[in-house]
Amino acid sequence: AQAAGSALCDDPGFAAALASGDDSAVIAAAGGGAAMRTAVATGAAACVPLDDPSRVWVVVNKQRPYVPVDHRPADLTTPDVRTLNDVSLRAAAADALTALVRDAEAAGVGQIAAESAFRSYSTQQSTYAGHVNDRGVEGADLVSARPGFSEHQSGLAVDVVPCDGGCATLDDLAASPQGAWVAEHAWEYGWIVRYEAGRTDVTGYVPEPWHLRYIGQDLARAYHEGAWTTLEEFFGLPPAPGYAG
Ligand code: DAL
Ligand code: ZN
Repeated sequence: AQAAGSALCDDPGFAAALASGDDSAVIAAAGGGAAMRTAVATGAAACVPLDDPSRVWVVVNKQRPYVPVDHRPADLTTPDVRTLNDVSLRAAAADALTALVRDAEAAGVGQIAAESAFRSYSTQQSTYAGHVNDRGVEGADLVSARPGFSEHQSGLAVDVVPCDGGCATLDDLAASPQGAWVAEHAWEYGWIVRYEAGRTDVTGYVPEPWHLRYIGQDLARAYHEGAWTTLEEFFGLPPAPGYAG
């Protein structure tokens, strides 16, 4: 049964679900993805830890680094998809990517490969440093997270590319049949396109149609049905266009 929004954190069933560590049980106890979103965004569920990287709803952005900053997920595994690098994701995200890629191919849009998924704090250090080298700090900050601030470090994000024999680049995804399919269907598998066009003011990043973030099927359905375009607004968080200090 759905707990009253204003008292969600006082509801014993909700508290028990939260304590169990089972994210799906928490969302169900809140009354589903949309109800949980509303409770969190309106401040009626302050007990939901949006900063806990072990939770599927974690929000990481330029204002919300990992604590500890070198957090590493416990359940990394390899998705059963074509990979261009050493790709791993948290178990639920790996399964969800495998299903998405399989269904896209079955739908006839072609193959999708994972180019980059989990990146450790130290990998992100070199990734970010490479961008700074290419574009300077200001340019790098629009396309790459500083170490400790990347969704990739959660094991819940993946960058995908279209393949037709060989694989194309991230920049080729948007105009490909695979990209169109991903934009329309990713939510059904629990993924959202995290950095959408026209939302740099909130996300701090230029559009990345290839960067998928796993939030689970219940929340992704609510995100899709509510026509949300940033995770910050979905959960009622402030915009995060830049770093503090
Ligand atoms: N490219 C995204 C923003 C990252 O570095 O996490
Ligand atoms: Zn990415």
